[in-house]
Amino acid sequence: MQQVSELLRIEGATKIFHMKPMLGAAHEVVALNNISLSIRPGKALAVVGESGSGKSTLGRAVARLFQLSSGTIAFKGRDIAGMRSHAEKLDYLRSVQMVFQDPFSALNPAHTIRHHLERPLMLHRKLRGEALDSAVQEVCSDVELDPAVTLEKYPHELSGGQRQRVNLARALAVGAELIIADEPTSMLDVSIRRSVLDLMRRMKETRSITFLYITHDIATAQFIADDIAIMYAGQVVEWGTPNLVISNPQHPYTKLLLSAVPDPAIKLDGTGAKSFASEAQAVRALARKASPEVMEVQPGHFVRKFDPI
Ligand SMILES: Nc1ncnc2c1ncn2[C@@H]1O[C@H](COP(=O)(O)OP(=O)(O)OP(=O)(O)O)[C@@H](O)[C@H]1O
Ligand SMILES: [Mg+2]
Repeated sequence: MQQVSELLRIEGATKIFHMKPMLGAAHEVVALNNISLSIRPGKALAVVGESGSGKSTLGRAVARLFQLSSGTIAFKGRDIAGMRSHAEKLDYLRSVQMVFQDPFSALNPAHTIRHHLERPLMLHRKLRGEALDSAVQEVCSDVELDPAVTLEKYPHELSGGQRQRVNLARALAVGAELIIADEPTSMLDVSIRRSVLDLMRRMKETRSITFLYITHDIATAQFIADDIAIMYAGQVVEWGTPNLVISNPQHPYTKLLLSAVPDPAIKLDGTGAKSFASEAQAVRALARKASPEVMEVQPGHFVRKFDPI
């Protein structure tokens, strides 16, 4: 049944990769382990976790790049795996766009920025002539790039931040409703990361674009996210509104992530520099053991039960 309060609902999502190496024994990687999350329309969910926690796998599952081993992903109440007709699949792939870490990866070095923005507008909105030209100018301006100096340039003539803006403009041109932004600022110069995050926040606020924002950096999540989910080893260990989770972290792994943020007020309790590595290892071992039991810390803040270390 359609639930209007959610644009996307992920229910019990599990993804197991079966590895069959040329040498050695076959084994399985549980990249997603029974994940349930939802994203409200026009809001941003930040998925935060360290390398290998399954963030990109989750993003790729939402982008319908593979099928889940079990569980469902529903977009506007419709199971995305159950979309059969070509038109329905195309419509979904238009509505959900990915922006990647490497701003170069989705741009063709042989084409101008105008070409990159024109194509989706021609393809998806069937625009031509003057209408096409003004739509190109509009999406370019929407991402705060000056059309007069940007459109005739090639990707290599832009800065990393400008290229990422072009990628966001492309998603707008296609008509995206949900943008999966997978570490979109981590390859950018520190000085411009904030401005790209600010742009995404404005896209959310003024154009009601919904974001699945993937990051290893809990600090950046605060700028854009309305909800935050902390992932480790394919599981969500703690989730809720960012201010509640960040100001009152419950799970030792959330505390570990926060301890990497340069704020002395939120250091991991009782860890000196020497004991930090072994403590971190203990926390990871703990986080790996999923408990199906969930505690509601306070309204809007949840944590999976864990044993004391
Ligand atoms: N196609 C695949 N085949 C086999 N294993 C995979 C595949 N894709 C991901 N994995 C494994 O799934 C786990 C999660 O990977 P994923 O790329 O989702 O992590 P991540 O949180 O995005 O990490 P990073 O921060 O490094 O991008 C890892 O153990 C990874 O090796
Ligand atoms: Mg990743």
